[in-house]
Amino acid sequence: MTDPAHVLLDTTVHSTEAMGELGARLAAVLRAGDLVVLTGPLGAGKTTLTRGLGAALGARGQVSSPTFVLARTHPTTAGPDLVHVDAYRLSDPVELDDLDLDWDAAIVVVEWGRGMVDGISDSVLDVEITRATGADDVRVDHDPDDVPDEPRRVLVTATGPRWAGVAL
Ligand SMILES: Nc1ncnc2c1ncn2[C@@H]1O[C@H](COP(=O)(O)OP(=O)(O)OP(=O)(O)O)[C@@H](O)[C@H]1O
Ligand SMILES: [Mg+2]
Repeated sequence: MTDPAHVLLDTTVHSTEAMGELGARLAAVLRAGDLVVLTGPLGAGKTTLTRGLGAALGARGQVSSPTFVLARTHPTTAGPDLVHVDAYRLSDPVELDDLDLDWDAAIVVVEWGRGMVDGISDSVLDVEITRATGADDVRVDHDPDDVPDEPRRVLVTATGPRWAGVAL
């Protein structure tokens, strides 16, 4: 029997701070072996969510966009490592496989991971972040530390046996 995908959360997140809090809320249900895929345009808030998630796990080191390193491993006080992957520059899923990650021992969060993680795990938590205003262009001309709060729609969909019956 295949487990149908189910929506864990469909909500509007109104601020940078609230996005971090949502990450912490996700962290509360995560354990070793879990795979989280973050989808959304540039500047959507994927790293912001991961930062809150990491803080809640007691992740060591700065959680930032790992664009130039592909993957960064953060030991956590919660137990399992947090592995933060940015698949933006990956051209195919095989490259992700090449990273030789210990998928079963870690909590793996993959920015731009949709279409890249198929077959890696039978269970995935898919987080889609879109700009609630409807505009899909993100202004990249200003200081990234000074981006005004703006609502985001966040849709969290769970697939696979790991998430059967799980609620947030
Ligand atoms: N509601 C919100 N939720 C999340 N971030 C927000 C929100 N409103 C404004 N922001 C701002 O948007 C930016 C999101 O940047 P972030 O690096 O998290 O995006 P990203 O999706 O990881 O981008 P990239 O694709 O470049 O990795 C931050 O500057 C953050 O302060
Ligand atoms: Mg990012």
